[in-house]
Amino acid sequence: MRELLKIALPKGRLGEKVYGMFEKAGLRCPEVLDNTRKLIFENEEAGVCYFWVKPSDVAIYVERGAADIGVVGKDVLMEYRPDLFELLDLGVGVCRLAVAGRRGVGDRTGRTLRVATKFPNVTRAYYAARGRDIDIIKLNGSIELAPILGLSDVIVDIVETGKTLLENDLEPFETVAPISARLVANRSAYQFKNDAIVRVLQRLKEQVEPNRDTNY
Ligand code: PRP
Repeated sequence: MRELLKIALPKGRLGEKVYGMFEKAGLRCPEVLDNTRKLIFENEEAGVCYFWVKPSDVAIYVERGAADIGVVGKDVLMEYRPDLFELLDLGVGVCRLAVAGRRGVGDRTGRTLRVATKFPNVTRAYYAARGRDIDIIKLNGSIELAPILGLSDVIVDIVETGKTLLENDLEPFETVAPISARLVANRSAYQFKNDAIVRVLQRLKEQVEPNRDTNY
């Protein structure tokens, strides 16, 4: 029996979209989209095994070889710098990491800036490059609350449509980095399952807009 290609998908809407891309690339396993509590799905015929993983955990599964390939946001790659291959910008899950704060308040220069974020490493590097003293407040979600309640001066967070900022009287000040979903591979799987991985990589590339900046 041939070994299945193990694919970690980020749980949620992005994962469902990305599954559609894998299906078009020849790796069918439609039960993946059944709305059940099941987390792992195999299709021997297509040679694939999918599993649903919390988006911020996909890189860990791939780095440690529990998955051969997976799909992970550039934000997670920038923050955790996992030891894996980044193969392709899939052109989906497009958003940006931005500095934001209360409308009209801006950065109060001259004093240590209190920054709330889920991305302390990226944030530290961003402000270090600008020679700005900051105090990081690490949060795990609903980051937008921090400047409203005076917990921080600004936030560094994901902005997609900008709706969350707008509805909370906040505004983006600066872009830290553009973000999108990336196809990643475990280093040794890339060697030992090279044919299967390169095949799916090629077929995914054909679906990504031509001339896109792949940035890897
Ligand atoms: C993310 C991000 C913002 C929101 C941005 O939150 O942290 O809160 O999406 O999207 P928008 O610009 O389209 O409004 P997520 O849904 O991941 O939840 P979180 O609050 O737990 O981070």
